[in-house]
Amino acid sequence: MTDHVVVERRGAVQIIRMNRPDKKNALTSAMYAAMSAALKQGDADSSVRAHVFLGVPGAFSAGNDIADFITMATGGQGGGEVWDFLICLATAQKPMVSGVDGIAVGIGTTLNLHCDLTFATPRTVFRTPFVDLGLVPEAGSSLIAPQILGRQAAFALLALGEGFSAERAKAAGLIHEVVEEAELENATLAAAETIAAKPPQAMKIARDLMRGPTDALVARIRQEADHFRERLTSDEARAALMAFMSRKKA
Ligand code: COA
Repeated sequence: MTDHVVVERRGAVQIIRMNRPDKKNALTSAMYAAMSAALKQGDADSSVRAHVFLGVPGAFSAGNDIADFITMATGGQGGGEVWDFLICLATAQKPMVSGVDGIAVGIGTTLNLHCDLTFATPRTVFRTPFVDLGLVPEAGSSLIAPQILGRQAAFALLALGEGFSAERAKAAGLIHEVVEEAELENATLAAAETIAAKPPQAMKIARDLMRGPTDALVARIRQEADHFRERLTSDEARAALMAFMSRKKA
């Protein structure tokens, strides 16, 4: 169990809030496990009609906890909760809406590729420095980002690690709407409530048709995970991850 993920209900909407502000919502194994459990429970509960992902002011998520990456890179166990969460995201049965403010790095960006609607604030920057860290794209992003953004914008995001402002993300089709910080949670929850008020069976069929079968996506997540695990032990990744950690000691 962890206090770093807070799950609440507002009517038929389940809110999953990442809540580790002192680490900019860097995600630990326990946080991934809590979010997987919430998605599964919400999907199994007929009174839940939509999931919402939120962070804290200024930080949706700074991505996977780099200390956890280093543990994995140096032969420690771990990672299972991450891959489980990614499969839960890809196979979630109910609409997902995200509200993103500020930092959205790594999984803080790729999570939104699985959401049906994403709202972001003007100060938000989406960034996936996978290659700079000696790593590879995850969460099925190597498959779905080119579908959503087109090949070239996906390459700029996933391979070059370019930051996408909220405006650029909207123009590229990564997000639905840009809203002011003070309006973010209201706008995100209002969208989820609108979804929740629609006939749920028709909504499910419409969503399933738009998303298509998940087999290829799940297979890609597993394929990426194989590369990711191998890359974590590479000299390239170890050097980049240690550079981040030692930056903190300076
Ligand atoms: N893993 C672990 N700790 C992290 C983290 C991460 N991914 N991101 C931030 N933190 C921690 C910092 O170490 C710092 O901890 P400290 O106060 O104990 O020293 C705290 O969160 C605040 O981060 P800080 O770097 O001071 O904030 P910032 O606003 O200057 O910068 C980021 C924010 C997100 C730009 C910067 O922290 C960063 O680049 N983080 C790494 C992002 C990343 O590469 N994630 C992996 C993607 S695959």
